[in-house]
Amino acid sequence: MTREFTSVGVVGLGTMGAGIVEVFARNGIDVVAVEISDAALDRGRANLTGSTDRAVARGKLAEADRDALLGRVTFAVGLDALHSVDLVIEAVPEHLDLKQRLFAELDRVCQPEAILATNTSSLSVTEISVATARPNQVVGIHFFNPAPVMKLVEVVRTVVTSADVVADVEALCKRLGKVDVTISDRAGFIANALLFGYLNHAVDLFESRYATREDIDAAMKLGCGLPMGPLALMDLIGLDTAYEILDTMYRRGGRDRRHAPVPLLKQMVTAGLLGRKSGRGFYTYERPGSPKVVPDEQTPTTTEPAVTGATLTKVGIGSARSELASPAVVTKVGIVGSGTMATGIIEVFANAGYEVVSVTRGAEQSAKVFEAVRTSLNKGVVRGRLSEADRDAALGRINWSATLDHLADVDLVVESVVEELSVKKALFASLDETCKPGVVLATTTSSLPVIELAMATQRPADVVGLHFFNPAPAMPLVEIVRTIRTSAETVATAQAVSATLGKTGVVCGDRSGFIVNALLFPYLNDAVRMLEASYSTTDDIDHAMKLGCGYPMGPFELLDVVGLDVALAIQRELYLELREPGFAPAPLLEHLVTAGYLGRKTGRGFRDHTRR
Ligand SMILES: NC(=O)c1ccc[n+]([C@@H]2O[C@H](COP(=O)([O-])OP(=O)(O)OC[C@H]3O[C@@H](n4cnc5c(N)ncnc54)[C@H](O)[C@@H]3O)[C@@H](O)[C@H]2O)c1
Repeated sequence: MTREFTSVGVVGLGTMGAGIVEVFARNGIDVVAVEISDAALDRGRANLTGSTDRAVARGKLAEADRDALLGRVTFAVGLDALHSVDLVIEAVPEHLDLKQRLFAELDRVCQPEAILATNTSSLSVTEISVATARPNQVVGIHFFNPAPVMKLVEVVRTVVTSADVVADVEALCKRLGKVDVTISDRAGFIANALLFGYLNHAVDLFESRYATREDIDAAMKLGCGLPMGPLALMDLIGLDTAYEILDTMYRRGGRDRRHAPVPLLKQMVTAGLLGRKSGRGFYTYERPGSPKVVPDEQTPTTTEPAVTGATLTKVGIGSARSELASPAVVTKVGIVGSGTMATGIIEVFANAGYEVVSVTRGAEQSAKVFEAVRTSLNKGVVRGRLSEADRDAALGRINWSATLDHLADVDLVVESVVEELSVKKALFASLDETCKPGVVLATTTSSLPVIELAMATQRPADVVGLHFFNPAPAMPLVEIVRTIRTSAETVATAQAVSATLGKTGVVCGDRSGFIVNALLFPYLNDAVRMLEASYSTTDDIDHAMKLGCGYPMGPFELLDVVGLDVALAIQRELYLELREPGFAPAPLLEHLVTAGYLGRKTGRGFRDHTRR
């Protein structure tokens, strides 16, 4: 028999506390909601009513249910109001001394059998527990933001937490409609340990002007299907809270440099730019607490570069002023290669109305690519996305060739041959001889330096990366990779062309992994390390990221789909280029690849796919 909770206390009604009050009250539990002052209490009440009113407006909560929910909540200043609750959960700022003082006080105020819980994201639950005379009744109950929406709760047990308390809290989580994972007391638990290195890295990319905030966020949303980009997520979490979490993880988690808060974070916190709660963080919001982003001085102008009528002029060194440059007119596109990516890209261009010249190594390859494009377009017809006439027109726009000579009059070349530097360099040298002046020469490489290919030609200003994602017809993102020699006009042309393909083009510098892979693969590698350290299981880690952070797949599901060999190769590149010790490939990943466990394609990776 687990304990029945009829009333709980929540201390601190900020970003998390107000949401946690809502979760309990929604599930029929009386809540005593406590703040430090009248003004803070008013803000906390406004957080709660704002959220429940939005739920009513969206049709997710009936008005009567909202009124009943609010009727279960008693608001109070000071801890004395918590004298008879069964459980208290605190959500005050992430400072150990503050939490320890609070727990000592709660221990004094609350009835002896009450469970005392912390919502800390990174502090030691053990250190908090020893501030009380009942450490066996102290536990971590880590909700995710926004608490009413995210399904996951991490239940953190210390070495002294009693088994009964853990069982009671697990049963309570189920009653709240949450999925719980129970873990031991380690900095960042599962989800934050995997999330915050990634968030900090994204801030670093932004701080170093590697890409704009919009492009970093769009890349992760569209390239990985995440519910929000990392900088928007930082704003939701709160930059002060994020700073404290990173700082604690750095100190507790082995001084991994990737958790040392990026200097910009501290500056923003000092300047009062805390994210949504203060109305301004990486983005600007309609008002404090509002989720609505409004334009500010960093918002890009919405005027698309004109696609027609422009001439291509050269401006020496690549610059960030692509928005000021005019794109070249592109009507005819050459695509070199016959693999999966080339095939998808041919379809994308032909479908968007471009005249396409496909160059492969021979008639046999061309026939194969033709069949693949036709099959894919046919699927579009069957699914009602394309008419038969459109399919025939798209196929009719493709010219098949086995010689680069046929690229003499194209306006843009997209190279998508095998991922080998020597092969690509030779190809770019040939393109330089064949193509007319002013043509944009693009590569779809996902790991080689674009500048190496640019320097294989006499026209490095015209060379750019166009990194499509697989499958190209379905994935909405293209990374436009600008080298230090790429001209603003070339970037503008790449942006204009991406837009006509119906893709979002994000511009980034020529660094290993561009935006998406640089941010994604270290996180996947960290998940492997966590598994290797036996902190949690593949299932729980996958659950944590899906239910705690809204990821479409957990890290092990994704690794099995991507291929462990591919992941290892990308991770090695990142490590070699940046020499970041934390990027060193996890030994377990290397061993699985050596053993031939490459993921779905070999039937076994982190999971066995041969058994259903
Ligand atoms: N923000 C997130 O996304 C997130 C997610 C999960 C867990 N957490 C954790 O939740 C906790 C709270 O974070 P937050 O982002 O909600 O912070 P917040 O700054 O939004 O809110 C903290 C609230 O605590 C109140 N407070 C401060 N001292 C108090 C005291 N002595 N007594 C009562 N109330 C007090 C403040 O007035 C404020 O309203 C932290 O431990 C954090 O790590 C945060």
